[in-house]
Amino acid sequence: MQLIKLISQLRVQQHQLRQIFRQRHYFKNMECPELLPPANVRGMRHLQRGEFKKNVQVPRLRINESQVDHVMPLVKKFLLKMEKLKPVRPVVVVLDGGSDEQKAQQKEILLHPLPITKWESLPTEELAKKDVTELNFSFGELELGYDNWTANEILKSILPLEEEGLTSYSRIGHIVHLNLRDHLIPFKSIIGQILLDKLPNCRSVVNKASTIDNTYRNFQMELICGQDDYKVETKENGIPFEFDFSQVYWNPRLSTEHERIVKLLQAGDVLYDVFAGVGPFSVPAAKKRCQVMANDLNPHSFQWLQHNAKRNKCLNNIQMFNKDGREFILKDLQRDLLERWHNSDSKYSIHITMNLPAMAVEFLDAFRALYNDKDLHDLSEDLLNYPTVHVYAFAKGENTKNLVKELVEQNLGCPLNLEEHSLVISFVRNVAPNKDMYRVTFKLTYHLLTTPKETESEPIVKKRKADDNAVALTKVKCI
Ligand SMILES: C[S@@+](CC[C@H](N)C(=O)[O-])C[C@H]1O[C@@H](n2cnc3c(N)ncnc32)[C@H](O)[C@@H]1O
Repeated sequence: MQLIKLISQLRVQQHQLRQIFRQRHYFKNMECPELLPPANVRGMRHLQRGEFKKNVQVPRLRINESQVDHVMPLVKKFLLKMEKLKPVRPVVVVLDGGSDEQKAQQKEILLHPLPITKWESLPTEELAKKDVTELNFSFGELELGYDNWTANEILKSILPLEEEGLTSYSRIGHIVHLNLRDHLIPFKSIIGQILLDKLPNCRSVVNKASTIDNTYRNFQMELICGQDDYKVETKENGIPFEFDFSQVYWNPRLSTEHERIVKLLQAGDVLYDVFAGVGPFSVPAAKKRCQVMANDLNPHSFQWLQHNAKRNKCLNNIQMFNKDGREFILKDLQRDLLERWHNSDSKYSIHITMNLPAMAVEFLDAFRALYNDKDLHDLSEDLLNYPTVHVYAFAKGENTKNLVKELVEQNLGCPLNLEEHSLVISFVRNVAPNKDMYRVTFKLTYHLLTTPKETESEPIVKKRKADDNAVALTKVKCI
């Protein structure tokens, strides 16, 4: 058993070493002027694939087929690697009549012109031991075309040099989602066509049409190339999801954040997902055998949430709601939590996710006085298993972490700290220049759940003014 484990560890190490070796000897084609697409394609707006044809002089070795296995380890790091190009290929000779013929048992190995400028660039002594000499080495013509460059290489060659190119895009199933800057709009159709040609399994390319300021947070988008079909199948952290991307919110950039939260949960834990979307927190949690209550106001999200729960065979662990988040907190979460406190032994943790960063903080006051003393009076402190809230928020400008803390405190109507509320503020991602997304995690307390926001003895803003150092003095664990 131990021997098998050791062998598999050695295999992994061997693989890692090979990867490192490969990377160290990777010569970038875009740093080699000969290997760039022709200069005349710059500025092209309608794709003419034929315009990309060019002939280049490329170093090569011609050897017998029987020598290939011995020579390859010596020249592997110098191979010419391009799209749809086999660096080891049969030698083709042109016959007198003009037709091509494969030369029997001869192979040519195409080498990269950047490191190999002459015979002496190669490990000549080692090659000589394999009967390969300068006579086997030559420069010859190679025809390159549209197929030999990646999407990125083609785009770099056509888009204006003086402005930023296409820096990123998202993949959602068969859809490529772009957010083109203004200067790239005149190139949108050619960009779409190139991505459609080059990216495997891509069938539709869309561009974000406006900022997402609608209630359901789904992107308004324009089809710039391919099929008008937005029903996608994708996987996040190994879990399959299906939805119509034009009707619901989905952002592949949140997959790590979803994973972080789901990892906090154990089987038997409880999750209330107030703005659940199509289920990227709720479905994996229910699959993990947590007890989930998931809600979303968008009827399409609700429908796909149900579909995904069914598809992932976790319907027994999830209840789904289609209502406003405030109503969900005040009625469904309120009732369920109280029942749990009265009926169980509290040996599980309870989490509430609120991922609607533009406005989730405005729902926090719903937790204030969610119960009255009478509701809780016969419950002992150890039965009161207080939920941990994970609320997401955006902040713009300088010192965004403190801004987010203030935003949450103002909406909740109470200062938060590490001791009492286990407060943690975590950076999630930068969403735009100068705009960050955070997760603020804190535990609800008896005080928060039973005292109305208005009756807070010392309003938070006044408290700040009274003590300039309040923010610094409040212990906040920031990640
Ligand atoms: C940013 S998305 C998050 C979806 C999902 N939780 C995720 O992490 O990808 C916010 C979701 O909140 C829903 N939503 C917007 N306003 C809402 C409200 N007042 N009550 C409940 N859901 C709402 C939207 O339909 C959307 O699905």
